[in-house]
Amino acid sequence: MKGVILDCMEKLVVEKKGKPVWEKILVNSGFDKNKKFLITQDIDDKIVLKIIDSTCIVLNNSLQTTANAFGVYWMKYYAPKIYRAYFGNTKTAKDFLLKLNKTHEQVTNNIENARPPIFEYEQPDEKTLIMTYISERNLMEFFIGLIKGVGKYFDEELTIERTGGNKVKINFS
Ligand code: HEM
Repeated sequence: MKGVILDCMEKLVVEKKGKPVWEKILVNSGFDKNKKFLITQDIDDKIVLKIIDSTCIVLNNSLQTTANAFGVYWMKYYAPKIYRAYFGNTKTAKDFLLKLNKTHEQVTNNIENARPPIFEYEQPDEKTLIMTYISERNLMEFFIGLIKGVGKYFDEELTIERTGGNKVKINFS
């Protein structure tokens, strides 16, 4: 997975908990405390998962709590700086979510080995979006955390309900 994911996790942990906590996560994952992940680098998925796991253990958080914090930080602070162009003039959470396949496709276009997630959509009515998350990585918690982050970025109250399998029902009030 792209190094950008770990760079964002590092910035989040350092900002909220301090550098020594991030160093501990790195060491617990088998790395030197000064290890840096380049944002354009392709990092083995196993390494990314190991670091996510160590983050949960060191912070004593569930995977969903870690994924929610990541999703909000990614959407509110990290991506708007690094990927400003993909925010364009999108004005609502729903429009942003509907563009996600294109966003992921474009962002990972030049990255060897990138296998970004794919989303399928159903729109039973104006206020409801059902999203199906398709990825062999199966990071459902991150999918949900990132949707929460989209709500925060657009300052909208979203109701997010996991309806089984890899499907999530989102209500826009
Ligand atoms: C501007 C916003 C976004 C950008 C630029 C972006 C970009 C990326 C990139 C570069 C990756 C790594 C892909 C790879 O290495 O194969 C990734 C992974 C991922 N993204 Fe996004 N993303 C954005 C928003 C979102 C949102 C809002 C969601 C959920 C609704 C989402 C869901 C995921 C998930 C679950 C992964 C983990 C990889 C996987 O499941 O296979 N992303 N994203």
